[in-house]
This record gives sequence, C-alpha cells and structure tokens, in this order.
Amino acid sequence: MMNIGYANGKYVQLDEPVIPIDERGHQFGDGVYEVIRVYKGKPFMLEEHLQRLIQSAKAIKLPIQQSVEDFKALILEAVQKSNELESAVYLQITRGAAVRQHLFPSAPVSITMTVRQVAGIDTEAREIGMKAIFHEDERWANCYIKSLNLLPNILAKQIAHDAGCYEAILVRDGFITEGTSSNVYMVKNGVVYTTPLSKQILSGITRMAVKEVTESLGVPFIEKKFTPDELLQADEVFITSTTSEILPIVNVDGKSIGDGNPGEWTMKAYRKFKEFILAD
Ligand code: PDD
Repeated sequence: MMNIGYANGKYVQLDEPVIPIDERGHQFGDGVYEVIRVYKGKPFMLEEHLQRLIQSAKAIKLPIQQSVEDFKALILEAVQKSNELESAVYLQITRGAAVRQHLFPSAPVSITMTVRQVAGIDTEAREIGMKAIFHEDERWANCYIKSLNLLPNILAKQIAHDAGCYEAILVRDGFITEGTSSNVYMVKNGVVYTTPLSKQILSGITRMAVKEVTESLGVPFIEKKFTPDELLQADEVFITSTTSEILPIVNVDGKSIGDGNPGEWTMKAYRKFKEFILAD
C-alpha cells in the first residue's frame, strides 16, 4: 500500500519537487482538476469525472491532447501501482510552465496526479450529522468549471471550521448555490430539492448518483432554487461530494434541522448509494 505521485510522464515521491516556479497552475491557478474516489480498487464513475474534466478544460481553452481513454489508462495504472483499495485520485491539468505573463503560452500542458489512501468520513460522525453555516457566495460567475481557483471556497470553509462546523453553505442573491466543496439538498414532505444546474454551481458527479438513487427509491428529485429560510424549515438537509458521499447536515447557523438528527430519508439514500457504488 502506498501513496503515489505522478508528474508529466513520471511517477514521483509525493514530497519530490516537480513544479517549475513559472508553472501557471502555481502562479495563476490556470488549470482544472478532478477528485475521483476509488472503492475496492475501482475508480467510481470514472467516465463521468473525465467527461467533466474535458468540459472544464474546454471552458478555459486548455489544449489537452489526451483523450478520455488516455486519462482512464493513466488513472487505472496509477491506482493499480498504489495497491490501495480505498483511495482518492487527484488529477490536475494546467497551462504548463512559461515565463510569467498573462497571455496563453505555447507551452505543453502539465499533468500531475496523486493517489492517496482515504479513510472517508467517520461512521459515528455521519450518524451524528454535521453542522454548517451560511456564507455569502463570493466566487466568480463560472463555478461550473472545476478550476484551481478555490480561494473563496477555502476562506469560507475555514470560517465554517473556526465556527465548529463542517461546511459553509453558500448564498448568492438570496438563494443557496452549493457548499464550498459539495452540493446541497433539502428534503421536505418526502421530496428532495436541490439547486438547478447553471454556471453558478458545479455539476457534481455524486449529485448525478443521488438523482438515480432518489428516483430508484421512488422519491421525487426536484431541481429548484431555495432560500436559507426554506432550508431551515426543511425536514432534512444533506450535502454530497466525492469524498463526503452523502452527509447529513443537522444544524445550520446554530439552528437545528428537523429534530436535530440525521434524516431518515438521508440515511436511506446513503445506504442505497453504498449499494450503487458496488454496482458501478
Ligand atoms: N469537490 N461543488 C463544489 C464547489 C465542489 O468542489 C465539489 C467537489 C462538489 C461535489 O462534486 P462531486 O460530487 O463531483 O465531488 C460540488 C471536490 C471533492 C474537492 O474539491 O475536493
């Protein structure tokens, strides 16, 4: 079992310096990325992650030569090399290294990757549920791109953490967009609501899985904007991401959601999601 580093054609130690000072991911955040969960040695929804990566790259005019199949082969090789059954792949593509100036260089793109063992969210913590805060969504207008520019996300996440919470639920123009690193849902009267896809949120891969899981349970999945007040009045709230899967939120801004425990439906969806993973 080991954690793996990869940089532009070579496997490297994770702490080995491999990025030139003038690398544009480092200097401008000029790149895109994906985080892919590996279960039992198999990357989950790999095709969907790679399609999103290609879309993100296109959106920032990043000229990648590799196809989805090339990335698949690269990831599968690294996962196998790591010998980890439960891990997360982090894949980053940037506009390469060139003397610092804003205009696009003609440099080849830079591809780096890590494969790290993950423990996932503690079972007990999931059963207790997590707290969150509301925070103004201060990000740019193109949050559908999984870009390296995460400064507003990390600032809001840190504010949440400092307040003893797991996530900051972002609010733009009075409506909830998403979390700093997750999509947000509420359950009301047996219906799941989540923010509709637009340029303001990331189209989560876990969100796609949740839609399928929800529908397979016969629960309506409605994409509709909702406000912080509506969320506070919900029966259940949960968030999703590759690393947190389906995670109940039981308190926001110090106010309990429902009876302050993880919702029945949320945990049902979580168990179904675990079955869905094995079937992927
Ligand atoms: N974050 N929204 C944002 C802003 C995110 O950063 C993420 C994921 C999601 C959920 O997407 P998915 O289900 O595809 O993981 C939604 C990853 C895990 C991260 O940056 O670490």
